[in-house]
Amino acid sequence: MLEHGGRLRAAVLRWGLAREQWLDLSTGISPWSWLAERAAPISLDAWQRLPEDDDGLAEAAAAYYGVAVLPVAGSQAAIQALPRLRKPGRVGMLTGCYAEHALCWQRAGHVVIALDAEAIDTAVDSLDVLLLVHPDNPSGVVHERRRLLDWQARLAARGGWLIVDEAFIDATPALSLADETPRAGLIVLRSLGKFFGLAGARVGFALAEAALREALAEQLGPWAIAGPARQIAMLALQDRDWQAQQRKRLHEASARLHGLMADAGLPADGGCALFQRYRGEQAAALHEALAERGILTRLHSEPAPSLRLGLPATEADWQRLAEAFAGRVATRRSDGCAITTGRFDGRAKAMATMAARDPPDDRITS
Ligand SMILES: Cc1ncc(COP(=O)(O)O)c(C=O)c1O
Repeated sequence: MLEHGGRLRAAVLRWGLAREQWLDLSTGISPWSWLAERAAPISLDAWQRLPEDDDGLAEAAAAYYGVAVLPVAGSQAAIQALPRLRKPGRVGMLTGCYAEHALCWQRAGHVVIALDAEAIDTAVDSLDVLLLVHPDNPSGVVHERRRLLDWQARLAARGGWLIVDEAFIDATPALSLADETPRAGLIVLRSLGKFFGLAGARVGFALAEAALREALAEQLGPWAIAGPARQIAMLALQDRDWQAQQRKRLHEASARLHGLMADAGLPADGGCALFQRYRGEQAAALHEALAERGILTRLHSEPAPSLRLGLPATEADWQRLAEAFAGRVATRRSDGCAITTGRFDGRAKAMATMAARDPPDDRITS
C-alpha cells in the first residue's frame, strides 16, 4: 500500500506530540467541511436499509456537474477499477502525480509512461490512455482546454481514453471537462473529499459515456456507497450557497499561503486553491523542522524533493505557521511542559540546519 498525507496517528508516534496539538497541513482536504458547518440529520433508514440507487444522489450530482454520473465510493474506487476495463496498453501520466494511478494501471498489466508536461503532445499518439490529474497533485499544473480536447480527440480516434482526475478542481470549475462528457473515450473523475471536506464519507463520481459507466458499475458491484454517506453527499451537492462561500475562502486562503511562503523565502512553485507546493533541496529538512513544531506537511521525493502544504483554517493556525516559517519557534517537549523560543533567520536553509542539529528527543531550541 502506498503512503499518503493525513497520517496523523503515525505522526503522533514518530514525533511524540499528542494528536490534538498537531496542525495537519499534509493533505489537500479543505479545513472547512460542509458537514461541520451544516449539521445534517441522518435517517435511521440510511443505516438500517440497503442503499437504493434511485435515492436522488445521482440526480443531485447530475445537477451539480451538469451531466450524468456514476456515484462511486470515493474517486479512488474508480481509479482502481478503470485499468481492469481495458486490455493492457501504454498509459501516460505526469511524472510524480498522485501515485495511486500508476500503481493501479501497473497492477492491471499496463505499461506506465511518466511524462513531463511538455512531452505529452509528442507522446500522445503512441499512448492508449492519457491520464491527467487536473490541477495536478502535487505540482498544480493545469492544461489549456483546447489542448486537452485535442489530446482526447487524437486518443479517441484510435479507441484510446483521456482520463481527467478532477479531485482538486471544484474551486475553479471553468477548468473542468465535466461538460464535455459524455463523449467516447473521455472519463472525468470527481471527489467530494477535498472541496467539500468530506474525505471520510468516501464519495466520488465518474463522468463518462453510458456504456462505460455501466461497465464500471458492474466492476464495483452493488451498495458501494454507505447509506449515510449518500445522504450527506446529496445535501452537500445541493447546497449552492455553501459552495459559493467555500470557493471564495479557499481562493483567499490559498493566496494567503502563497504570500506567506514567499515572505518566508520559500516561494511556492505550484499549487491550486487547496494547497501550495514548495520545491527545493531543503524540502525534507523543512518537513522535519515543521513536524518538530507540530506542523505536518506532505513530503514528496519524486521527481524532485518538494513539500505540499494544505490550508490553515484559523488565525491561530496561520500564526503558528508564520512563526514556524519566521523561526520564532515555540516547541513543546514530549512531556508537554517546557516551552522555549528560538530564532532562525527565517530561511529554509537555516531551518534545515536546525533540524539536522536538534536531536529528536530534545525539542528545546535556543
Ligand atoms: C489526485 C487525487 N485523486 C483522487 C484521490 C482519491 O480521492 P477520493 O477517493 O477521496 O475521492 C486523491 C486523494 O488524495 C487524490 O489526491
